Amino acid sequence: MSDVNVGRLLLRESVGVLFLWLCLDSAHSRGCSAFFCRKSHRVSGLRGADPGSPLFLTPYLEKGAIDEARKLSEVGDLPGANVKSHAGYLTVNKQYNSNLYFWFFPALMPSQEKAPVLLWLQGGPGGTSMFGLFVEHGPYVVYKNLTVGLRDYAWSARYSVLYIDNPVGTGFSFTDDDKGFAQNQDDVGRDLYSALTQFFQIFPEYQSNEFYATGESYAGKYVPAISYYIHKNNPTAKVKINFKGMAIGDGLCDPEMMLGGYGEFLYQTGMIDEQQKQYVVQQTDIGVELIQQQKWVEAFQLFDRLLNGDVDPYPSFFQNATGCTNYYNYMTCQEPEDQEYFSQFVTLPAVRRAIHVGNLTFHDGSEVEKHLLQDVMKSVKPWLGVLMDNYRVLIYSGQLDVIVAAPITERFLPTVNWTGAAEYKTAPRYHWKVQPSDTEVAGYVRQVREFYQVIIRGGGHILPYDQPARSFDMIDRFLSTRGWI
Ligand SMILES: *[C@@H]1O[C@H](CO)[C@@H](O)[C@H](O)[C@H]1NC(C)=O
Ligand SMILES: *[C@@H]1O[C@H](CO)[C@@H](O)[C@H](O)[C@H]1NC(C)=O
Ligand SMILES: *[C@@H]1O[C@H](CO)[C@@H](O)[C@H](O)[C@H]1NC(C)=O
Ligand SMILES: *[C@@H]1O[C@H](CO)[C@@H](O)[C@H](O)[C@H]1NC(C)=O
Repeated sequence: MSDVNVGRLLLRESVGVLFLWLCLDSAHSRGCSAFFCRKSHRVSGLRGADPGSPLFLTPYLEKGAIDEARKLSEVGDLPGANVKSHAGYLTVNKQYNSNLYFWFFPALMPSQEKAPVLLWLQGGPGGTSMFGLFVEHGPYVVYKNLTVGLRDYAWSARYSVLYIDNPVGTGFSFTDDDKGFAQNQDDVGRDLYSALTQFFQIFPEYQSNEFYATGESYAGKYVPAISYYIHKNNPTAKVKINFKGMAIGDGLCDPEMMLGGYGEFLYQTGMIDEQQKQYVVQQTDIGVELIQQQKWVEAFQLFDRLLNGDVDPYPSFFQNATGCTNYYNYMTCQEPEDQEYFSQFVTLPAVRRAIHVGNLTFHDGSEVEKHLLQDVMKSVKPWLGVLMDNYRVLIYSGQLDVIVAAPITERFLPTVNWTGAAEYKTAPRYHWKVQPSDTEVAGYVRQVREFYQVIIRGGGHILPYDQPARSFDMIDRFLSTRGWI
């Protein structure tokens, strides 16, 4: 049985059984080769300590006990460092007992309380947003000794950031019914929207702030889904969201256009030779046909065997061809070890108590992926067009990413149908530096109206981890409306 299967089997067992297993092999972990994201496979032993109880905030909201809800949601002390934050569960479907877990960081700088609020969504399907928090741009970094320190260039320094484990079944979020899992992006949008409107009722002082949906990778589908849902529902909603736009990093948005770019990309970066390129092109041609025939699961399986290597039990073509398991950055063959520390950290009993998850399972997301299998290869392009016509949109890529490589994004963007489409095709590209006096160029930007396409140099899929200063500068230029030019 592969490590993957061991991991998945494990998560179906109770924490008690897990503990036993962890005693036998506490050091066990697998290199993550999951789909567009990290999955967490480890739940730390309870070691007799009390993890507290999960905090469900919806009942407080319903009885009007807003102050109590806010007070209770304050996160307790973490080992190592502390900033003010709130966390808990929002019930998004009572029939199935579906609950989304959130962790909210008000902007650290006191002058920034009216700064935009960002929603962050990890990809996957099934990737926990705790990854974005602890590995990419939250205020904390986790050390090997399972304590935290403060991050330089945290996005939450200047902006308020709301991390949500999405959809239900991801990370600490859960549902009690098989029917509660999202099967498409409408389901994703609906549940997230419920969580957001509840959030803004519990934290009404942020409701008038500008709101942006952001995320990466497979969240290239989630982010347009929630954005479009807000766009549709806001005009008649009781709880309005001051929605201004969205940002998508290395996002899978339009597989039909994107798939055909891999052969050339892998070849031009020297990762495969001519014969191997012919194979990739032949495979992706079949993949595109399968998509056109709406054979979604078959198209996914082809992609999985070729590159993704997630559900398929054998090494992918990419792994066999390159000898590398990491497709997040082609300069790094294996994934950095420190990107895994957080999953052990968030499941320590003292941390569980502080962040209000009690003894609930920290899901690896495999159930989520199973339920979304027929969604993965579908496009969100029509939604993108509407959103680009009505809101501010940033689409960014890490130059060194493989799984959603920059040229693959470049390949689909000209095919988005919006009123700026013609202008986009002839828009000039500029390079930009974080400080004008820098010798190093941070990246490249193309702008049409309020649409920005950015490429950051020297970083891959996990972009703020690879390039924290450049990534912060990018999001800050976008959100502050300071821009690039
Ligand atoms: C979590 O705690 C509750 C209440 O103490 C208990 O009933 C339940 O079995 C525990 N769940 C796990 C997975 O240990
Ligand atoms: C944990 O590791 C960090 C980083 O190496 C270090 O600064 C800190 O002092 C360590 N904490 C403990 C309790 O060992
Ligand atoms: C990669 O190599 C393994 C071992 O030889 C093989 O089982 C697998 O089918 C290969 N993967 C692909 C996609 O060809
Ligand atoms: C592009 O969008 C416009 C406006 O919504 C619509 O009228 C047109 O049919 C669309 N074109 C294509 C090729 O989808």
